[in-house]
Formats: sequence, C-alpha cells, structure tokens
Amino acid sequence: MTFPTGFLWGAATASYQVEGGVTEGGRGPSVWDTFAATEGKVLGGATGAVACDHYHRYPEDIGLLADLGLNAYRFSVAWPRVMPDGVTTSAAGLAFYDRLVDELLGRDVVPVLTLYHWDLPQALEDAGGWPSRDTASRFADYAAVVHAALGDRVHQWTTVNEPFCAAFLGYGSGVHAPGVQDHDTALIAAHHLLLAHGLAARALAGPGQEFSLALNFAPAIPDGDTPAHLEAARKFDGIHNRFFLDPVLGRGYPEDVVAAAGRFPECVRDGDTDTIAAPIDWLGVNYYAPARVTPLEDPQAPSNCPLPTLRGMDVLPARPPLTAFGWEQSPSTLTSLLEWISARSGGLPLVVAENGASFADTVVDGRVYDAARVNYFMEHLRAVHDALRAGVDVRGYFAWSLLDNFEWAMGYTQRFGLVHVDFETQRRTVKESGRFLGRVARANALGA
Ligand code: NOJ
Repeated sequence: MTFPTGFLWGAATASYQVEGGVTEGGRGPSVWDTFAATEGKVLGGATGAVACDHYHRYPEDIGLLADLGLNAYRFSVAWPRVMPDGVTTSAAGLAFYDRLVDELLGRDVVPVLTLYHWDLPQALEDAGGWPSRDTASRFADYAAVVHAALGDRVHQWTTVNEPFCAAFLGYGSGVHAPGVQDHDTALIAAHHLLLAHGLAARALAGPGQEFSLALNFAPAIPDGDTPAHLEAARKFDGIHNRFFLDPVLGRGYPEDVVAAAGRFPECVRDGDTDTIAAPIDWLGVNYYAPARVTPLEDPQAPSNCPLPTLRGMDVLPARPPLTAFGWEQSPSTLTSLLEWISARSGGLPLVVAENGASFADTVVDGRVYDAARVNYFMEHLRAVHDALRAGVDVRGYFAWSLLDNFEWAMGYTQRFGLVHVDFETQRRTVKESGRFLGRVARANALGA
C-alpha cells in the first residue's frame, strides 16, 4: 500500500506537554502553569514545569525523530515564551524556536508549526481570556510576530489546535485550564478561537505559506437505527464536529446548534463568519475515537454531551477494544471521517495531524515492545490508505506523540509516545512502534 509522493510522515508534540523550562529565557506563566499548580486539577499534582525537558533536549529528540526515518515534526510555539506578558515580544523566546527550526532543517525534517496549543499567557487570561474578543486580536499580533521571525524557513502553519477542547474543556466542563465551568461562556470562547484562526490565516497566508487549523473530530455512531437514534447522533455531531468545521468551510454555524446555544449568537458580529472562512490550504484532522450515542427516553432530559442545552441524548461508554485511556479503537471510523470531511469541503487537502494511543509501556532490557500500539498504527494507516483509494486528498500522517509527555489533566499517567520517557532520569527509549512507523515512512508504503 503505497502513499502519495511527498507524503508527510511525522510525529507531533505541544509546547506545554514537552518543553519544561517554564521560567527560562524570560518565559511568562501560562494558564496551564496556573491550573496545574492548583490543588486537585491534575492527577498526582503533576505539572509541565520539567515535562520532557525538550527545551534543553530538543537536538536529541529531533535526532531520534530523524533517525527513525520520519520527515516532519509538528510542534507548537509557547505564546508565553514569545510574549511573556501577552503583548511584549521576547527576543530570547523567539530565539529558542529559531534554534529548533534550524535543527529540524539541518536534519531534513519539515517543520509544521502550531501557533496555539492551549498555553495562553496568564496575563491574557487575566484580561478576559478567550471569552473576550480582544484575545483574538492579540493572537493575530502574536501570529504576525512568529511569522515574521520564522516565515523564511517555516512554510506549514497551523493556527489553533483543537478549539473544541480549548473552549469546552477550558471554559465549559472546566477540566482543562483555566478551569471555568460555564457552557454559554465556552461557546463564546469557541467563536473567538475560530475568529483568531481566521484573523491570522487571512493576514499571513501567501505564496509559499500553507495555513491550516487542526480540529478534533469525534464521529457520532448511533447505537441503533431508529429515527430517534439518528437524531441523537446528529445533535452530538453538531456540537462536536460541525460547529467547528462548517464555519471554517464557509458554511456558517450550523443552525441546529445555534438554536440550542443560549446567548452565543450575540458574540458573532457582522463579518466574523467571512473572517473565519479564510481559505486554508489543508485541514488538520485529529482523530482518536468515535462516540456511541443514544436517545434518552425523556426528550427534555439534559444530555451528557458538551452542550447540555441539547436535550434528550446520551453518550454511551466506549466499546472494546480500548486503549489505556479507555478510548475505543475504531480504525474504520477514520476512513469514513476522512471521506465525510472531503465530501463536505469539496475535496480540501487533509492531514491527519494527530492519531495515536496510550498504553502502559514498560522498558524491559532496554526495549519497549509495544505491540498493541504497532497494531493500532497499522490499522489506522490502512484506514488512511482506504480513504486515499476512495479519492480523498490526504497529504500526511502525524502520530501523537513523539514523546511520552504531560497529558493535561491526566498528568504523566498516559503514555502516547513513539519514544518512551523515564521522567525520573529523562532517559529516552525508542519504542517498537516508533521503529515500525519509521520503516513505513522510509518505504512510503505499508505492507499488506
Ligand atoms: C489531543 C491534543 O491535541 C493533545 O494535546 C493530547 O495530548 C492528545 N489529544 C491526547 O489526548
């Protein structure tokens, strides 16, 4: 099963999850520093203060990625490193990413740069955070600064990673930073995150510069085939998938979601939907698992989905096989997801910007034999290949993650890496799955 010429084979990380060095080079605090330092927010009281120490060890880590045979690295820039107070630029902060990008290019690895992977400068949260429209303008300024510094060498840009999580987990359920619990506020934050994407993409896209954003999709599988089941799935799909995809594709916000969305419409100003629909060169598709959805007997009962004002539906427990996180493994859903996005977008190029699984890996005699993860990648790559054969324009595949790292509210309990990290010693051990993915990348093909 060969892949198209020029296919990007990479691994992804995010600044707060791997860098550490949170007070070095003049970096200011982010909402995640504050949140993780608050008792009871992160499992085991873990923080990203050291994480994988990638801030110091990036040459070693990039060396591992390149030696495996991967040709691309998706990483994020920490806004509070570049703008410690959210406004003033730090030359030392930019210099770190300058070195990182040069290291990548020196190893023939394509840098794929994400501007926002959830580490909002605390100063901007104090000024209102994503529920404040001004944060979108601040983001556009920040994007311009990073682009001016690195745009001569970085040609693949992702504005915002998973606005769903940043908005709904950060401001809705509150399980992520900054920990606000207000579903109306979460929708407003979501709009401003999309606006931030549009403002940056519109201002900075140009010849030789490819712009994207990365959305996390949770395809809804109805747990039955009655009209009520299909309706429940439609509701879940609306808030989880279409609410983010449709405005980016120029279709505006889905009416069925807006109708149940409280005071949300008030924050959408004239021209916003055009800004959000700024043309993109590819869409980052982050896929882990589907959601099994069922109707509730009482159509007025609040749902357990991210927008409780949508009533009468429930998300069921995941079905085996599961990953260590308890997430359902469903590779065929990735094929149908890619086909659905491609059809809905009129053939937009897609990149699988994240896909991966956590398992309880252990180092035995200097090796990590993670057969379950090898199998996971094999099945999901077959699924990507099926989509390619069906005519979907898929340009790349990024494993989440290069390294075991700080898994947000779960601390260090979920290992997703191609490379095992011993957090006591910072020792890296390449896992079998890393070697497997590297072999596929070098061959640009998957054995049948
Ligand atoms: C999506 C996020 O982008 C990433 O930060 C996270 O670690 C993975 N999913 C796994 O949960």
